[in-house]
Amino acid sequence: MTHQKIALITGANKGLGLETAKQLSALGYQVLIGARNEAAGEAAAISIGPNAHFVHLDMALPATFRAAAQFIAETYGKLDALINNAGIGPDNGQKPSEVPMALIRETFETNVFGLLELTQALLPLLRKSDAGRIVNVSSILGSLSLNADPSAQLGDWRSFGYNGSKAAVNMFTATLAFELKDTPIKVNSAHPGWVKTDLGGDAAPMEIVDGAKTSVRLATLPADGPTGGFFHLDDALPW
Ligand SMILES: NC(=O)c1ccc[n+]([C@@H]2O[C@H](COP(=O)([O-])OP(=O)(O)OC[C@H]3O[C@@H](n4cnc5c(N)ncnc54)[C@H](OP(=O)(O)O)[C@@H]3O)[C@@H](O)[C@H]2O)c1
Repeated sequence: MTHQKIALITGANKGLGLETAKQLSALGYQVLIGARNEAAGEAAAISIGPNAHFVHLDMALPATFRAAAQFIAETYGKLDALINNAGIGPDNGQKPSEVPMALIRETFETNVFGLLELTQALLPLLRKSDAGRIVNVSSILGSLSLNADPSAQLGDWRSFGYNGSKAAVNMFTATLAFELKDTPIKVNSAHPGWVKTDLGGDAAPMEIVDGAKTSVRLATLPADGPTGGFFHLDDALPW
């Protein structure tokens, strides 16, 4: 088994995922670039350098999870960090009373079911690490406390699909962290901030390089770091 740290980042061909991979690579990690599009994933890996390798992962295709787990097991024998970053928000701006079911199903398939099933497939490899870290990239929009407060400054972003999917991701963080509390594995949710990406849009105040910092911090937590938390940078957020 290799002594180098191995990190897998989903949705790593662009945006926050690519930047998270770059920053972990700069820290000496071997980074696995999870992407559904082979050309985009290969290009992202090449842009980082020899410490990066493309792994085909489509969050809507569980067969790709099993193939990725097999590849990682055969090549590295372990996984030190899983950054569940891939995410979509196709119902942004839609009213919960009118949103088409197809958008809700698509959102939950990628943001929740895919994330859960991939994590299950990779957990045996994370258990082989002496310091496994799972980062579930959530959003402050997944906070039940804030969504339940009509005065909370969430703008127009009160869609059920995206916000509900991130609330479910947070529940996965809390329940999995509890299950793993007597192991070295730490499980946390990350809110990157409102970041200039294809998803965040041009009006976002944060640059990508800063948006990736929360995921990188949670992927590299020391042994006495937190588990079962929801963070933006060093700050704990309301569930
Ligand atoms: N930007 C923000 O302000 C913000 C705020 C809070 C939370 N977040 C969260 O941060 C994460 C990254 O978002 P981002 O802002 O970097 O958005 P982005 O630039 O749109 O990137 C999203 C990534 O997810 C991938 N993806 C989507 N569906 C997929 C699927 N079925 N299988 C595999 N990959 C898939 C995309 O791949 P393709 O290129 O193939 O589509 C892309 O690599 C998301 O979970 C998002 O909810 C972002």
